[in-house]
Amino acid sequence: MKDNLAYANANDAPDLPPQEFLRDLKRGLARQQKIISPKYFYDAQGSALFDRICDLPEYYPTRTELAILRKHAREIALHIGPHTEIVEFGSGSMEKVRVLLDALDRPQRYVPIDISEGHLLDAAQRMRLAYPALEVEPLVADYTQVLVLPPDVPPQGRRVGFFPGSTLGNFEPQDALRFMQMCAKTLEGGALILGVDLVKSPAVLHAAYNDAQGITADFNRNVLVRANRELGANFQLHQFAHSAFYNAPYQRIEMHLVSTCQQTVNVDGATYRFAQGETLHTENSYKFTVDGLHQLALRAGFTPGQTWADADHSFCLLWLDAPNSRSTA
Ligand code: AVI
Repeated sequence: MKDNLAYANANDAPDLPPQEFLRDLKRGLARQQKIISPKYFYDAQGSALFDRICDLPEYYPTRTELAILRKHAREIALHIGPHTEIVEFGSGSMEKVRVLLDALDRPQRYVPIDISEGHLLDAAQRMRLAYPALEVEPLVADYTQVLVLPPDVPPQGRRVGFFPGSTLGNFEPQDALRFMQMCAKTLEGGALILGVDLVKSPAVLHAAYNDAQGITADFNRNVLVRANRELGANFQLHQFAHSAFYNAPYQRIEMHLVSTCQQTVNVDGATYRFAQGETLHTENSYKFTVDGLHQLALRAGFTPGQTWADADHSFCLLWLDAPNSRSTA
């Protein structure tokens, strides 16, 4: 299998124009290994399905990360320091950041970045009500692109990035490095708190992406539902089976939709043939080791610091100091 999926987006619904979806789907279906970027999972329906995944008994990452945050909130807050600006990449519903904000000493500003404007502005308004002393400055943007943050970092504090949820794992390695390099520049003189899923028993991983209720299967198939609705495609949903497996050499879960019979699909006047058993590759979810992450962080210009993990070393939060100069690799 080639390393060829584009980056994923935040855990939220990107307002991507249908033309971009159409272009990417047609290009992806024309390839030998058919692919579509996981960023197209996240329309309103897909985001709602992802929220349900986060509550599933088999899907450990969300609750494990929250437990780590809660357990170490005071220590993390001491690392961050007073009067900070917190920048969250892909802020979604802004739930996890509340654990940090509740522990911080007079946080000054919160800059949630998300591509889904409506959702971002609603959630930002809720944050203003919950934290009246905090400046909340939402930024509608694709955070994987170059970002223009408010120019004035708080005079007494610093800028600390927050990127939880192991969304980094949905990026291809070269995109992960590019993103981290951009973060190191954006957070210059501050730090990044990065939440990532760790390499573990394939059985645990398999269960997390093949839940008994079939919510992950619905989430996977949602990209076809979306293509039918938004692009007038004619995918026969019952003829595509959910498949998720751990690819150990690549340290990643791969999600595919497997054609259960020989069939053709029409998208915008073009016809694509699926052989029986042929797959549409929909997502990679890379799992990391702390060593591997340290290497990635160093290459991007960060200096790795403290790591906080759960007792099983299932998930971890890393503290990464951003460089002071702009001379990253
Ligand atoms: C958003 N992202 C970190 C999830 C993951 O685990 O890779 C998306 C997901 N795909 C299937 N289940 C959850």
